[in-house]
Amino acid sequence: MRTAILGATGLVGRTMLDLLARQSWVETAPRLFTSPRSAGRSLGFRAEDLRCEDAKAADFAGIDLLLASAGAEASRALAPRAVAAGAWVVDNSSAFRRDPGHPLVVPEINGALLAPCRRSRDAGIGGIVANPNCSTIQIALAVAPLDRAFGLREIAVTTLQSVSGAGQKGVDELQEQALTGADDPAAPGRVFPRRIFANAIPAIGAADVDGDYDEETKVRRELRRILDRSALAVSCTAVRVPVVTGHAAACRLVCARPVAPADALAVLREAPGVEIAADPARYRTPAEQAGRLTAHVGRLRRDPDRPDALLLWVVADNLLKGAAWNAVQIAAELAGEPAS
Ligand SMILES: NC(=O)c1ccc[n+]([C@@H]2O[C@H](COP(=O)([O-])OP(=O)(O)OC[C@H]3O[C@@H](n4cnc5c(N)ncnc54)[C@H](OP(=O)(O)O)[C@@H]3O)[C@@H](O)[C@H]2O)c1
Repeated sequence: MRTAILGATGLVGRTMLDLLARQSWVETAPRLFTSPRSAGRSLGFRAEDLRCEDAKAADFAGIDLLLASAGAEASRALAPRAVAAGAWVVDNSSAFRRDPGHPLVVPEINGALLAPCRRSRDAGIGGIVANPNCSTIQIALAVAPLDRAFGLREIAVTTLQSVSGAGQKGVDELQEQALTGADDPAAPGRVFPRRIFANAIPAIGAADVDGDYDEETKVRRELRRILDRSALAVSCTAVRVPVVTGHAAACRLVCARPVAPADALAVLREAPGVEIAADPARYRTPAEQAGRLTAHVGRLRRDPDRPDALLLWVVADNLLKGAAWNAVQIAAELAGEPAS
């Protein structure tokens, strides 16, 4: 499998490179693509130093699999070129997530959608698989098994999202503000619309006319698509918090009938990609979950005033399961090999 990464110098791209280095089905070093800013820069892969190439000038011939993680604009411009050259693209941006012609995949939930993609790949025809939004992946991992077992009527979620979700520049802004102790909490930064240090900002992306922000709309739309429940009621409030890596989601699930927490735990215990804390006191925080490949569910309990509603806390590493690991799992399925 000849691989490549678009956006190789980014937080997600570097995580993808580390994960590819562990895959036995990646026999040769990947090609690395960036903007002209980083072209020529070296990144380590196993015992080699690899040079980044300017993506705009790239010839994608000979690449079987491109992991794209350079933003929607770059993906819209470059992914079709890679497909035309016969590659499969696993795209980590929002560019193709709403397009019914491209599957939106969390392998543990709807990995069966990859079977026809693999057949096309075997026949030498390229295509695109969309990797979902980071918060959506972790929420979907926890709620899809509960939906299958009990039937969900409504999902209401508040996400607490780390600064690495905004890329390297988000991490840099938090670190600079922590060092300088920026004192005006209302002052916008270069990346975030208020000071992020010692603060919490309920606005991720741009607001629409109804007052929903981009990230909230992505969670609603993508969750419905992954669960294959187009009419499911989903509401979301997305909050940026001064955590470096690891997103959390506080979820309230209204079920079709009363569900005992023990029954929900029994379902989640069997759910692939999910770890659970059976004891409500043994929750994990986002920073504790950073570096792990799973989503962790804790604080699972019944809503005190609603026997048909469950409350749970879901954490995952946004760079791993929320981005690079999910993409590498998809790539491994396309290659017909296990991801490790
Ligand atoms: N961070 C997360 O938790 C997360 C989770 C899910 C999805 N995503 C998505 O993943 C993508 C990358 O996120 P990130 O956090 O890794 O961002 P990042 O740290 O800002 O890195 C961006 C990468 O994209 C490259 N790039 C930017 N514009 C480009 C262009 N026009 N042509 C080629 N390369 C270009 C940059 O190259 P230079 O070094 O040359 O600037 C860099 O390698 C985004 O679409 C983001 O929405 C991120």
